[in-house]
Amino acid sequence: MTIETHVIDRATDSALFSPLQVGAMSLSHRIVHAPMGRGRGRESENVPGTYVPWEIEAKYYIQRATPGGMLITSALPISEEAKGGSFVGGPAMYTEDQKLAWKKVLTEIKKTGAVMVAQIWHGGRTSGHGKLPCVSSSATRIEYNPRTKQPNPPPREMTVEDIKRTIADYARSARLAIDAGFDGVEVHGANGYLCDQFLHDNINRRTDEYGGSIENRNRFVLEMVDAICAEIGSDRFGLRLAPYGFFNECKGSDRVAQWTKLCTELRSRNLAYVSFMEARYDEFLGQKEKLAALGQTLNSDDFGSPEEQSLPTIAPFRAALGGKEGTKVMVAGGYDTENCWGAVESGLTDMIAYGRYFTSNPDLVYRIRHQLPLVKYIRPLFYTYPKGQPEAGYTTFAPHESNLKTEEDKELYAIQQKNGISLVENGWQLSQDGVQMGEIFV
Ligand SMILES: Cc1cc2nc3c(=O)[nH]c(=O)nc-3n(C[C@H](O)[C@H](O)[C@H](O)COP(=O)(O)O)c2cc1C
Repeated sequence: MTIETHVIDRATDSALFSPLQVGAMSLSHRIVHAPMGRGRGRESENVPGTYVPWEIEAKYYIQRATPGGMLITSALPISEEAKGGSFVGGPAMYTEDQKLAWKKVLTEIKKTGAVMVAQIWHGGRTSGHGKLPCVSSSATRIEYNPRTKQPNPPPREMTVEDIKRTIADYARSARLAIDAGFDGVEVHGANGYLCDQFLHDNINRRTDEYGGSIENRNRFVLEMVDAICAEIGSDRFGLRLAPYGFFNECKGSDRVAQWTKLCTELRSRNLAYVSFMEARYDEFLGQKEKLAALGQTLNSDDFGSPEEQSLPTIAPFRAALGGKEGTKVMVAGGYDTENCWGAVESGLTDMIAYGRYFTSNPDLVYRIRHQLPLVKYIRPLFYTYPKGQPEAGYTTFAPHESNLKTEEDKELYAIQQKNGISLVENGWQLSQDGVQMGEIFV
């Protein structure tokens, strides 16, 4: 198959395919694999009850690797408490054993030239009570758990001692990640997990120095950032934020003021990057309005429909981080092979992270470059798999027919053709599969 010249020109001329220095990390292009928890870890033989990566993670990331392309891992719990009773099965980063398991996996992945970033994470009140009680900024419970259709039992409010211990856990986990061979570390500060539980005033009801004002609600995150920077250096550290997110019952007020202040503080810390989950139709509009708005976007020639442009944007946070000359910025949320063009040129971001489409298109970077159709993702296999088949929906997707380099690629392609693949037509894969609002933002 031949790729038309104008298609190649579009990519060659795009800033998306230009190199970028992100702190200590050198990227050859701006398309990033977004962090995605997929529950494919394995129980450690050395430390029962803890989970480690194995060959399947190596294969998954190698399939998606490009020289100088950044791949961010699934959210790795920083402690037993961080994982709690709800997030069992994903690999983690809090034991020496986990560090060594990652080291083994990374040795293989790094041969591709990929830039590997570990996302580390504490679930706070979302982790559920496991071996240890789950904790949060305050004893504010989750009012509706879609699985049990009930409120969750309330978490235990963290003491100042708990806060200091947890910050030390973040720093220790970051150190383990760097020692394992990761190029950088990102903290999951979005989606209603522990960091967000300090930032949102509907969850954080504290009256001490960690709550009650914008400055105080930012304190936990900033102390954690400082501890990690002291441990591994700010040039290897990124923070993920979702200023407009609602997932996990984030209903904080005064968001622009809260996150602008946070970003102003982060600017002086000189992080490698800050990653934003952008506001999504899913969160602001009902299904009918969303489809209408999406229809307009898909038919519009410019970068964003009026509806899209009227949604809250990350512009104030980009400005607080120093604008184009400041801290590097990454965005995620609903990017495809069309709406990516011009995003970097618009000045709003330096990188684009892709989540769902990277699950079903291992050679996503190639497909974007050549503007080839995307394969639809399989939502039921995001977090779970048929018994004994962890590879299903994880490492079973093939590259494009024009990009089959190995015998294994060819085999995967043949199987995929036999089973029948669905391509995304006319833009974004719409949520016909009964997605609940916010479900995608794990
Ligand atoms: C299966 C799945 C797992 C995810 N897990 C994480 C995660 O561990 N950490 C995180 O920050 N975001 C997580 N996300 C959110 C993605 O990083 C991304 O922001 C989101 O999918 C929106 O991007 P997209 O529209 O390109 O899919 C997850 C998303 C999916 C679909």
